[in-house]
Formats: sequence, C-alpha cells, structure tokens
Amino acid sequence: MLKKALIVSNIFLFCCWIRPLFGAHCGVSRERAPETARYLALFFASGWEAIAKYPQGDLKEKIQEELVRLSGKSLEELPPESQKVLQEALKAVEIALFLHQRGDEKDLPRLLGRQIEVILAFRCGIRVKQPSLRFRDPYNRPDPWEKRFLEKFEVEVVKDRRISAKGSLEDSQYRYLYPLWVHKSCLRCHGGPQGSRDITGHLREGYRERDLRGAVSVVLPVY
Ligand code: HEC
Repeated sequence: MLKKALIVSNIFLFCCWIRPLFGAHCGVSRERAPETARYLALFFASGWEAIAKYPQGDLKEKIQEELVRLSGKSLEELPPESQKVLQEALKAVEIALFLHQRGDEKDLPRLLGRQIEVILAFRCGIRVKQPSLRFRDPYNRPDPWEKRFLEKFEVEVVKDRRISAKGSLEDSQYRYLYPLWVHKSCLRCHGGPQGSRDITGHLREGYRERDLRGAVSVVLPVY
C-alpha cells in the first residue's frame, strides 16, 4: 500500500516538476545561509504546530499563520533567497494535501515531511530531515553530527538552559540543527499512554511537555 502510494506520488511529482525544473533558482549565498536555514526550520516547526493545533483546518493557511507567529514575518516579507526556498516548501505542502485528499496516503504528518524533503532535494539540492533520538521512522535516524547535538540539547533541557539551535559553515555547505520541543498540542500523538496508538496508527512515545522531541536538520549547499 505504502509502496503504491510512493510510486503514485513520485510520478505525480515528476510530472509537476519536470518542466520548470531548470528554473528553480533557489541557490543560497554563504551570507544568507544561516537565516535561510532558520526560516526553513521554522517552516517545519510551523507544520507541526498547524497539524497539532488545527486537525480540521486549512493546513496551508495555518502553516503560514504559524510561520508569522514563530518568525515574526510572513513569507512575502522574507529576504528573496529565503523566500524562494520556502515557496518550494509551500508547493510541496500543496502536493501533499492533494495526495492526502485523494486518499493515496493516510498518514498526513509523514506525507508532508517526505514531500517537502523530496521537493527541496530535487529542486534546490537542500537536504532536510527531522532526526530524533527516539525516531518513529528509520529515515529520521540521526547521523553522528546530529546525534552529538541532540544529546547536547537534551542535557540543556535537564539543566533548563535551552540552547536555541546549532549552525556550522563547512566548505560548500551550511549545516543547521533546530530543536523541536514537545508542547501540549503534540501530546495527542506523542504523549501517553506510552505504547497506545495515535490517530495515525503509530505508537505514542509517552513524551511530556518540554521534552526534546527531535530537531529539524538542514544541509544547505552555498555559493
Ligand atoms: C496527528 C498526530 C501528530 C501530532 C499532533 C504531532 N505529530 Fe510528530 N509525528 C507524527 C507522525 C505520524 C510522525 C512520523 C512521521 C514520519 O514517518 O516521518 C511524527 C514524527 C515527528 C518527528 C520526527 C521524528 C520521528 O519520530 O520520526 C518530529 C521531530 C515530530 N514528530 C515533532 C512533533 C512536534 C514538535 C509536534 C507538536 C508541535 C508533533 N510532532 C505533533 C504525528 C504527529
């Protein structure tokens, strides 16, 4: 079933994106990389907030509202380089919602994440994922760099001195890790009782408010 959904979604993606493929122009300069990575992470955080708070709402609109709340800026107000990247992410949301409404994939959180990740990789060469020390999907298994900082974030939680994010400029890429904390609204799926099934059919982890759920990890190629 999942395989079929993936094939359908990939063919759809291919048809949607092959024509304007060479016109994406979402390259990011070294100077703009830190803010673009941050806006992208906030976009993901907005996605979770919207899913958690408005199960019945218009997700595309709610994500943009949450983005304004978290970043203080609307998409149109972002610097042009960041805006182009986030526009691609927003198109991926549209495709995910289309596929979900058609019934191709029931698990909307998973579909949304994968769709944004695929589109950003395909169109902009940007790698995004959501690693966690207790990942639901093996795709979100942290690499050694992510694991090191996730463990640091967790220690900070215990001490209650929360570091906000970790950024690092390497030769031709900018890496960024933005922690995602558990809020009350996430508990519906990630809270207790541990081991019971949430609405998407996954097992709840038994997190509590203010725990570290995971992070958004961004690898941006820079010029
Ligand atoms: C409607 C249920 C639902 C709600 C509400 C929800 N999540 Fe999730 N979450 C999921 C599902 C399903 C996955 C697995 C997605 C996948 O396979 O990529 C997931 C995965 C994640 C991951 C990736 C790590 C992993 O386990 O694979 C993070 C990070 C995350 N959620 C954060 C949050 C945060 C933060 C909130 C609250 C603001 C939240 N979620 C609310 C269903 C939910």
